[in-house]
Amino acid sequence: MPLRWNPDLTHADITPETLFRQRRLLMKGVVAGSLSTLLAATVEPLLAAKQAELPTFRKGVITLDEAQTPFKDVSSYTNFYELGSGKSGPSANADRLPLDSWQITIDGAFQQTGSFSLAELLRPHPLEERVYRLRCVEAWSMVIPWVGFPLRDLLQRLQPTQAARYITFETIYDPARLPAQKENVLPWPYREGLRLDEAMHPLTILAVGMYGRQLPPQNGAPLRLVVPWKYGFKSIKSIVRISASYDQPLTTWKQLAPDEYGFYANVNPDVDHPRWPQNKERRIGEFLRRPTLPFNGYADQVAALYQGMDLHKNF
Ligand code: MTE
Repeated sequence: MPLRWNPDLTHADITPETLFRQRRLLMKGVVAGSLSTLLAATVEPLLAAKQAELPTFRKGVITLDEAQTPFKDVSSYTNFYELGSGKSGPSANADRLPLDSWQITIDGAFQQTGSFSLAELLRPHPLEERVYRLRCVEAWSMVIPWVGFPLRDLLQRLQPTQAARYITFETIYDPARLPAQKENVLPWPYREGLRLDEAMHPLTILAVGMYGRQLPPQNGAPLRLVVPWKYGFKSIKSIVRISASYDQPLTTWKQLAPDEYGFYANVNPDVDHPRWPQNKERRIGEFLRRPTLPFNGYADQVAALYQGMDLHKNF
């Protein structure tokens, strides 16, 4: 039976703002604000300690002169519809993600294809920490120290053939353990894609950790994509398949609502989402909104990839 989903349901419809509003209220009072800081300082090490420390990785490879978002916010305010809707659903259901014996299928237009264990895939790639901004299409943002390695290093190892113009990523599909996948929340499996040059760009990474520790399930353990100049939904979590193709893949959010979520999904303050503007964002933990920067502040590094393209059409 083909998978069905509710075509009227969009990203915003399944994103309750309650938590976000509660946070805003908290931030309004100075006393309340300092209380929450105190709480974060006490609870944070306990929360982070649930994840195993990553053995060795190079620090400070790419960093930012901006305050990092507390781990507790990054790990509890998440979008991962396989693990539940709402921002807190994914962390509440984190233990449902079957992390044992993770296999990644490599197929399509690569010279090296096959099924690899996570260790086999990671072994040749030294890990490094990079601090990136993450900007969600819902107009919130965070600053996160990821630990990972450039996707291009893996792609070079897999050797894309002449036919490879796009790279597609898929998330685990396991409705028996991820009950949301029995429902019409999204078209499953979650699928994302990049043009080959975007995938080969040195800023694009595959992450296995954050804050020096393994990724929590709700943030996409054991392996997720991070593309810092694109809206957060491009950062596909819990990857089990990487394919190369000649044709542009149909990506999940584009399949669901093509007028709202384009294939490119570059952070662009000049192109409004049909239902809300994109020129401002709220950094989680801050009260005042800040302007959204073209390409999320990475224009110097990536704007050339889109030279000559109409970014209103190719949104
Ligand atoms: N990947 C999968 N498999 N499923 C999802 O629901 N949500 C996306 C993206 N990756 C999602 C996903 C969205 S909408 C966002 S904003 C980012 O993950 C959020 O990443 P974070 O929760 O780690 O901040």
